[in-house]
Amino acid sequence: MSLLAKSLTLSGRRLVAASVRHHSLTTELIENMDKKATWDRFYAESSNKTTTFKNFEWFFGFDAVRDFIMPLLQTESHPDALLQVLDMGCGTSALGPCIFRHSAHPVQVTCADISPIAVRLMQEHVRAKAIQPHNLCSQLEFVELDCTQLHRHYGCNSVDLIVDKGTTDALLRSKEGRGKASLVLKQCLKVLRSSGSVLQFSDEDPDARLLWLETEAQEPGVMAADVGVQEVGELRGMSYYCYQVTPRPIA
Ligand SMILES: C[S@@+](CC[C@H](N)C(=O)[O-])C[C@H]1O[C@@H](n2cnc3c(N)ncnc32)[C@H](O)[C@@H]1O
Repeated sequence: MSLLAKSLTLSGRRLVAASVRHHSLTTELIENMDKKATWDRFYAESSNKTTTFKNFEWFFGFDAVRDFIMPLLQTESHPDALLQVLDMGCGTSALGPCIFRHSAHPVQVTCADISPIAVRLMQEHVRAKAIQPHNLCSQLEFVELDCTQLHRHYGCNSVDLIVDKGTTDALLRSKEGRGKASLVLKQCLKVLRSSGSVLQFSDEDPDARLLWLETEAQEPGVMAADVGVQEVGELRGMSYYCYQVTPRPIA
């Protein structure tokens, strides 16, 4: 079994164990993780199973990745500037709300997902919980957005940090998602400020992901980027990585 097939199967198994024990949904999810309908069905079935809301976390939660995210939320030159943070493909994860809650620097956290069901669940949850930010100027919003079209929500050079926990992985692993993954990365580089970064949290091996990122993030005369990787750690026998992509001025 290839590494991709193995990790895909493991992700699928984990997903099932964590939420829905339903074979047809598992198969549908794994092959169609680029489709809105798949995720609508997933979040609807997950929420129908329980009366109390519970965040669903792909791979792991905020605590596992906070040391990769929080150091990027500082600007010495403009200490009061509201930093724009996007959780891309947020689902019902607590990642965005945790950034909002813990950032000492003022942040505008936008949690965006293609599934209106996930967005509505998060809006209702946050309203009910009334989460308080560390910095009173910080803001938190949830929006339904297809991230292949980030330019509809953001202007060029307007975002400071994009976090992506499992979203690019989901696209890359779908039967018809590779083109969308590439489009999403290009859109990220377009809307990011020159000082900004995308962090992709993934279980894909660096041999494959670095090559993909380095290829997709360069377009002669149009865009260029620096790509790096750090290990997040090992969980249930799987290694996880943080891929950082930073726009580079075009020569
Ligand atoms: C693997 S889940 C990860 C969810 C969440 N980030 C987490 O850590 O639990 C992938 C998420 O990407 C969303 N998604 C898929 N395609 C998308 C797109 N084109 N634009 C925005 N969100 C998308 C799905 O609805 C789903 O919530």
